[in-house]
Amino acid sequence: MGQNLDGMLIPKHVAVILDGNGRWAKKRGLPRTVGHKEGCVTVEKTVEIAARMGIEYLTVYGFSTENWKRSAEEVGALMQLFRYYMVRLLKIASANNIRVCMIGDRTRFDQDIIQGINRLESETRKNTGLTFVIAVNYGGRDELTRAVRHLASDCAAGKVRAEDIKEETVASYLDTAGMPDPDLLIRTSGELRLSNYLLWQLAYTEIYVTDCLWPDFNKEELEKAILAYNKRERRFGGVVK
Ligand code: IPE
Ligand code: IPE
Ligand code: MG
Repeated sequence: MGQNLDGMLIPKHVAVILDGNGRWAKKRGLPRTVGHKEGCVTVEKTVEIAARMGIEYLTVYGFSTENWKRSAEEVGALMQLFRYYMVRLLKIASANNIRVCMIGDRTRFDQDIIQGINRLESETRKNTGLTFVIAVNYGGRDELTRAVRHLASDCAAGKVRAEDIKEETVASYLDTAGMPDPDLLIRTSGELRLSNYLLWQLAYTEIYVTDCLWPDFNKEELEKAILAYNKRERRFGGVVK
C-alpha cells in the first residue's frame, strides 16, 4: 500500500545516507558483501522511484573517505560492485533521461573506475530528468579541504581577491557547485550522525532517520519520509516559510 502524496510538496533535492547493509546481512547469517549487493539493487530501484516522483536531485552516499579503513576484502568487494553497477547505471540513466554526477575525490580509485565515472558523467550530461549524484570517496571535510586548496591557489594566482570571497564563492568551489542544497536528508538504520556527509550543504536540511535497513528501503519508506518532511515547519534561522 502506497502513501497518499496528493497535494504534498515533493522535495527538490533528497540526500540519502544509505546505512545498514552489513546489519541486514548479519541478521540473515550472510557475509556483509551480500548486504552490499542487495544495497545496490535498492539504489537502482530508488533512483527510478525518485525520478517518477519528480524529485530533481537525489544524492546518495556510496563510499566515504573513512570507508577505506574497512577490511581489504570488503573494500575490494565494494569496488567490484561499483564497477558492475556503473555499467548498469549507464543503461538505466540513458533509458530514463537521468543525469549522473559523482562527488568526492575520484583520483584515489583505479584507472578503470575513474574512466567509468568520467564516461557516466559525459554520456548522461545532456539528460534533463533526475540528477542522480553519487558520493564516492566523499567526505565533507575532504571536500572543504580540496575547495580551500583550490581557492587559495586561485588567490595566489590573482584570479580571486581574498576580500571578495563570499559564501557563494565557497559554494562554487565545492564538488556540488551549481546544485541546490538538499531539502531532506534520509538516513537509514537508525544512526543519529552525519558521518562526514555534505557538511556545508546540510546547514538547513530537514533530517529524517528511519530504523529501516537500507536493503529493505522501498517506495513506501520514501513516501513516509516525504510525508514527515511535509509536516515540518521549515525555518532558515528566521520565520517559518
Ligand atoms: C552502508 O552499510 C554501506 C557503506 C557504508 C558502503 P554498512 O556497511 O555501513 O552497514 P552497517 O552499518 O555495518 O550495518
Ligand atoms: C556512512 O555510513 C557512509 C556511507 C553510507 C557510505 P558508515 O556506516 O560508514 O558510517 P558510520 O561508520 O556508521 O559513521
Ligand atoms: Mg554503517
